[in-house]
Amino acid sequence: MQTVNINTSKKYNVYIDKSFDENFPNIIKETVFSKKILIVSDNTVKELYFDKVKSIFEGLGFEVFDFVFSSNEEQKTLSTIEKIYRTLFENNFTKGDTIVALGGGIVSDTAGFAGATFLRGINCIYFPTTLLSMVDACVGGKTAVNTYFGKNQIGVIRQPDAVFIATDTLSTLENREFSCGMAEIIKTAMIKSESLFELLETKDFEDIKEDVISQCIKIKASVVEEDEFDTSKRLILNFGHTIAHAIEKKSDYEIKHGEAVAIGMSLITKRAVKNGLCDEDTLIRLNMLLHKYSLSCGAVCPVTELLPYIKRDKKNYLDNIKIALCEKIGQGYVKDFSYNDFVSFLTE
Ligand SMILES: NC(=O)c1ccc[n+]([C@@H]2O[C@H](COP(=O)([O-])OP(=O)(O)OC[C@H]3O[C@@H](n4cnc5c(N)ncnc54)[C@H](O)[C@@H]3O)[C@@H](O)[C@H]2O)c1
Ligand SMILES: [Zn+2]
Repeated sequence: MQTVNINTSKKYNVYIDKSFDENFPNIIKETVFSKKILIVSDNTVKELYFDKVKSIFEGLGFEVFDFVFSSNEEQKTLSTIEKIYRTLFENNFTKGDTIVALGGGIVSDTAGFAGATFLRGINCIYFPTTLLSMVDACVGGKTAVNTYFGKNQIGVIRQPDAVFIATDTLSTLENREFSCGMAEIIKTAMIKSESLFELLETKDFEDIKEDVISQCIKIKASVVEEDEFDTSKRLILNFGHTIAHAIEKKSDYEIKHGEAVAIGMSLITKRAVKNGLCDEDTLIRLNMLLHKYSLSCGAVCPVTELLPYIKRDKKNYLDNIKIALCEKIGQGYVKDFSYNDFVSFLTE
């Protein structure tokens, strides 16, 4: 088992192990002190892993409740949050009790937001079960729900109390979801680590997965620790994301987050090459690595059709827009644009 310490305003650990039941029960016993827990999960994950996690908590003497929803972006909304609140109220949860998010990023973003706001915040621990949520969504404390106006538009930043990753849960993941996780891993390598990028280019993921997951978590943690509340340096984690969020919303979420991130990274890098801000070799290697993990980098629509969505992005502040770019592999940075300059950057 590996342990990664996260040194944000609230300090917590991410535990990475092969399975849920070997080392995690002892750690839970020592670190989770509530009486009741609410396991929030989705239909698919419930079938696969709920009984195992439930029996761990029951074996330790917790009273276990559950809230299960069909996790898709349409359900990642305030109306689901209200239903979670209702379950918590009806079962007399107190501030000392705990929410357990068991599932992918949709589950942890939703459960995390409910946990951050119920009674102004109760304990929250995450059991991520998708590759994407293991390497990205489970650390950093961003929680959010979608609105009619866009993705992740309502949320708070609040760190979880602990994260438990069992890598054997990846064995049941569909290929498409696996690729989505790879997109965030490639993003991490693009912005911060050429050695990780080379590892992904040369090795078989199956042989290096624990190492890759822990490297991604450490890199994300180091960025978040410097700018927990997302005012400057953290924006680098949004490499590819401004375009990705627009693509997701425009496709009515038919295109998944990771798939959109892949297209977004490729497109923004292509434009950076055109504007003399990145060399062509970086773009070629990026596109080849995306291809290796079955991620498309082709445009889904003319970029002008994405502009209305980009204008509404959370990273727009007044008329400015902050965009993460990579000068080379492993060297990401954030560049300020006026909105009009960014439109020219994308279209001319
Ligand atoms: N908070 C953050 O910092 C952050 C970072 C990145 C992404 N996100 C958010 O995360 C969401 C995407 O997360 P995701 O990609 O994990 O998607 P997800 O939660 O929708 O999970 C994808 C699918 O995989 C299924 N699944 C989950 N675990 C499984 C397993 N082990 N075996 C088989 N099936 C399994 C789920 O039921 C679901 O159908 C987006 O909403 C995105 O905005 C948040
Ligand atoms: Zn992302």
